[in-house]
Amino acid sequence: MSKALDNLRLYAGVLKRVGYTMTFGMLNSGSREELLKLYNSYNGHQNGDATPVDPFIIPKTDVFELFGNDGAAYEGVYECGFGHTTEFELKVISNLVKKWNPHRIFEIGTFQGRTTLNMALNTGSDTEIITLDLPADDLATTKMEIEEGEVRYVKKEVSGERFLGHPAASKIRQVFGDSASFDFNGYINSVDVAFIDGSHAYEYVMNDSEKVFAIMRKGGIIIWHDYTNWPGVWTALNELYQNDIRFRGIRHIGGTSIAILAL
Ligand SMILES: C[S@@+](CC[C@H](N)C(=O)[O-])C[C@H]1O[C@@H](n2cnc3c(N)ncnc32)[C@H](O)[C@@H]1O
Repeated sequence: MSKALDNLRLYAGVLKRVGYTMTFGMLNSGSREELLKLYNSYNGHQNGDATPVDPFIIPKTDVFELFGNDGAAYEGVYECGFGHTTEFELKVISNLVKKWNPHRIFEIGTFQGRTTLNMALNTGSDTEIITLDLPADDLATTKMEIEEGEVRYVKKEVSGERFLGHPAASKIRQVFGDSASFDFNGYINSVDVAFIDGSHAYEYVMNDSEKVFAIMRKGGIIIWHDYTNWPGVWTALNELYQNDIRFRGIRHIGGTSIAILAL
């Protein structure tokens, strides 16, 4: 009898967890990672493959080793959903930015500007933050193909609405265009922090990583979002990590979808 009760409890517990993961949990990168692992292990067994595929091969690093305790300032941390960094990711990025104390930040993919604003809140008054966004009108003419699932982040009335009119916006310079055809030449060797969060298509992540690498200053840091969320991102970053010596130092920040490369 007690065995049957134990099984019932186990069943109810798993059902509750699956219910959460398939609904609200989808907003959380940890839950999405869990789902992906489940999917991989299920498919692995179905295909008679004894080793489930874990696509996240980049070694993990711990946030507290990177910046110690949370000392950053925030706005709109909990106002997020699809297309945004999670609360924890925003705190991680804010702390990284604060620690790196950059003169110049370059972001690819502005969206509402929630991360842009929080980067501005955690930098000095002489910091310049350049944020590049693809105008909705340019959707049909991008040099490479973006993912269908991200069209909704491009199609918006306003780019950067979270910082427009905010006092910290004086540090932020918006630029518009397609990251594959944008002219990065004026920024070579001048960027201390780069945040790559534009298109999540493989070709774009490869393009953006290459373009951003060229504009970084020694001692800077490249931050990628969505390593564990989009196949195009993890395929590109795994490839760079494995095959390109310049990217061998990439690390995945545990508990987030963020990957970093400290130069
Ligand atoms: C996921 S959202 C970025 C979220 C934002 N970085 C944040 O943390 O809140 C992706 C953004 O990338 C932009 N984007 C997509 N493809 C792009 C491209 N080829 N060049 C420049 N920006 C692009 C979209 O318009 C969208 O604003």
